[in-house]
Amino acid sequence: MPRRKRAWLHARQKDSFSRQARQSDYRSRAVYKLIEIDQQDRLFRPGQTVVDLGAAPGSWSQYASSRVGPHGRVIAVDIEEIIPIRNVQAIRGDFSDMAVFRRSLDVLGGAKADLVISDMAPHISGIRVTDQARSMYLAELVCDFACHVLKPGSDLLVKLFQGEGTDEYRQELVERFQRVMVRKPRASRDTSREFYVLARGYKV
Ligand SMILES: C[S@@+](CC[C@H](N)C(=O)[O-])C[C@H]1O[C@@H](n2cnc3c(N)ncnc32)[C@H](O)[C@@H]1O
Repeated sequence: MPRRKRAWLHARQKDSFSRQARQSDYRSRAVYKLIEIDQQDRLFRPGQTVVDLGAAPGSWSQYASSRVGPHGRVIAVDIEEIIPIRNVQAIRGDFSDMAVFRRSLDVLGGAKADLVISDMAPHISGIRVTDQARSMYLAELVCDFACHVLKPGSDLLVKLFQGEGTDEYRQELVERFQRVMVRKPRASRDTSREFYVLARGYKV
């Protein structure tokens, strides 16, 4: 096994969030980012309709499903397969494909959502400018989608990568939502440029 791969595996094994996730049957350590934000900001309520974008392997959807309960609904979208989760309706496809974007709208059957969460991150090419542009493009689609489906007064949580376009994106959210906050949960590695924007109170 190459040395860099071995070092990566070692760091990962040492990561307590990964260990915790395995012990709790969550599919990814990413769940601890959502849990921390939920504990601070109380995102979920029983009975809500939640759309989870970039949802595979599915830990956010697992958590969302447990929080909205049997009378709630979770719709999960990803280009990768999502192994079935109770009370979660999965859509497989590229969210930047208009047909998938529309399918994600259609599955709501005209109903509105209480919360849109997006942990979507493009596959990294290693070319920073390209990766940043792709990430911002996906984030724009998320904002567009949220504005189609959210009930007035409801919320959007979206992952961004610090860089070109993030300030303008936050400003766009400020115009559409009553309050816009930045979150960097502990489970998000310090070395990562990722952070989350929580936009509350969709203005319509
Ligand atoms: C960090 S992972 C999400 C982890 C997830 N929140 C969880 O808890 O399991 C980012 C996801 O975004 C998805 N993704 C990236 N680009 C996408 C696209 N264009 N359409 C749909 N999903 C995409 C990836 O396939 C990947 O599963």
